[in-house]
Amino acid sequence: MTCGFKQFIGAVTMVACSMFVAQAHAEDKVLKVGCEPTFPPFEFLDDNAQPIGYDIDIIKAIGEEEGVKIEIVTMPFDGLIPALITAQLDASISGITITEERAKKVDFTEPYYDSGLSAVVLSENKDKFQKISDLSKSRICSQIGTTGAAHAQKISGNVASFNTNPEAFMELRAKGCDAVLLDKPVNGYFLSKSKVGEYYEIPEILNAEQYGIAVKKGNQQVSQILNSGLEKIRKNGKFDEIYNKWFAAKK
Ligand code: ARG
Repeated sequence: MTCGFKQFIGAVTMVACSMFVAQAHAEDKVLKVGCEPTFPPFEFLDDNAQPIGYDIDIIKAIGEEEGVKIEIVTMPFDGLIPALITAQLDASISGITITEERAKKVDFTEPYYDSGLSAVVLSENKDKFQKISDLSKSRICSQIGTTGAAHAQKISGNVASFNTNPEAFMELRAKGCDAVLLDKPVNGYFLSKSKVGEYYEIPEILNAEQYGIAVKKGNQQVSQILNSGLEKIRKNGKFDEIYNKWFAAKK
């Protein structure tokens, strides 16, 4: 009888212990999330070289809802999908457009932002480039591996692509190309920070795009955490709060 009681206590202790371990495990779960941080207002570095922006707030809010820690890792844009494939990252949030081609290599969460491409030219060339198709004979600057670079290829086939977006804008300024083809909200941010009258955005949106968070193909555990977190922040108002923080002027 005593022995039986001891066994009972032992079993209870073991169950309690494993419950504690499971609990501790959930809280300790860290998601390594990649981004390329020259894409304001989605991801860029603050004065202390810390990544900030819309995407960073979104992924942190998801982490908070789901009780997982988010570790942000920065890397070149064209390295993000390979790093998911080789499982160096759990997810990537980086203004990544959901495309059919990418969806063959990685999984995407539900879309979290509607976007599109636009072209910025020097104001002095405003009359020359009234439509994006007017760039058909132009050299176009963009970022390596982006939808902007892919479309520039279709428009003129003469593309200068850079690792970072500031380099693309610097090249435009130096007249090494006629236009920067990039996501419209990022062009908008650039214009808002530039000297009035220096640059001009061709008033045309090239492509309807949606951003999703990319996950290693088949990693349903991570996809499920991210989708569930997204749904929760959409419901509890956090998503709108973050949207308004970064895009208030446009609403
Ligand atoms: N939306 C574009 C794409 O998916 C550009 C994304 C660039 N993102 C970045 N963080 N640099 O190709």
